[in-house]
Amino acid sequence: MISSKTLKRLTERVLRRIGLEPLIYHYVCRKNLRRYSENDRAFLAANPGMILPPPQLRFDVIACSSAEYYVTTGKKMAEQIQSVIRKWGSPDTRVVCEWGCGPGRILFALEALDTGKAMEFIGSDMFAPSIQWAQSVPDCRIAFHLNNMEPPLSLADSSVDFVYAVSVFTHLSESLSRTWFQEIMRILKPGGVFWFSTHSGQQHLSELSPTQQKKLEQGQFVAIPSWHNGSQMYTGIHCPALMKDIITASGAELLEHQPGGNNTFQDAWIVRKIKIQTPSPAPVA
Ligand SMILES: C[S@@+](CC[C@H](N)C(=O)[O-])C[C@H]1O[C@@H](n2cnc3c(N)ncnc32)[C@H](O)[C@@H]1O
Repeated sequence: MISSKTLKRLTERVLRRIGLEPLIYHYVCRKNLRRYSENDRAFLAANPGMILPPPQLRFDVIACSSAEYYVTTGKKMAEQIQSVIRKWGSPDTRVVCEWGCGPGRILFALEALDTGKAMEFIGSDMFAPSIQWAQSVPDCRIAFHLNNMEPPLSLADSSVDFVYAVSVFTHLSESLSRTWFQEIMRILKPGGVFWFSTHSGQQHLSELSPTQQKKLEQGQFVAIPSWHNGSQMYTGIHCPALMKDIITASGAELLEHQPGGNNTFQDAWIVRKIKIQTPSPAPVA
């Protein structure tokens, strides 16, 4: 007897093969919006004045339109990022950038934690509706930028103290991951810190073919492709060996690797841009 979970997986695989996966996305999204509409009304009534992106944008970014879930998970993640900045950032950390920020689920919460208003916040994403919405929020001191699928970001070399990217590499191919990693190193100041999350593959084993599982074991990149790179529907898997190679190739220093460190289902990584070595002064003759 075939279980409903297996049947769902098989149906998804077939729809993916014949290019109809966007249909699943729209169906699941509509269902989700209906499911949470009543809860959302109650949550917003209990929190008057709270500014939130529309339900469709919330779904686009975390695959769940619930207003309460959007707010509570954003706050929790912001607290996690704040503790990483405190642990690994320099005491002078001032400029913080989220790459792949969506409509600012985490960034708005992180800005609210900066009660002294000492920091400068920047968010960048390639999805225009998210950035347009974030830019429309009144009295906002976060600078939101739209970027393309490929680098560059509209930020100067060595201009940022701390960068984070929550669930962004998880939607990119290996080659885009490598170029974006270099780009983040370009905008970081020497000694600056980068926190990011990846799929290690352990959670997706049942969705991978035997060939893909073998590739994963050999430290190679594996994708569950669909629709387009960068979308919620494209899953990029960077096993730890591959991620370590990307980090080393960019000349960064690995500070921490936490399996399951992002919400238990993604690995969290913390790296530092190596300080530029200043040549020692020539000996006085
Ligand atoms: C799963 S969502 C996470 C959004 C946000 N970090 C959060 O946790 O609320 C992934 C985000 O990465 C963005 N993204 C994907 N590829 C990107 C790229 N090449 N440059 C910038 N953003 C990208 C998507 O548009 C989307 O907003």
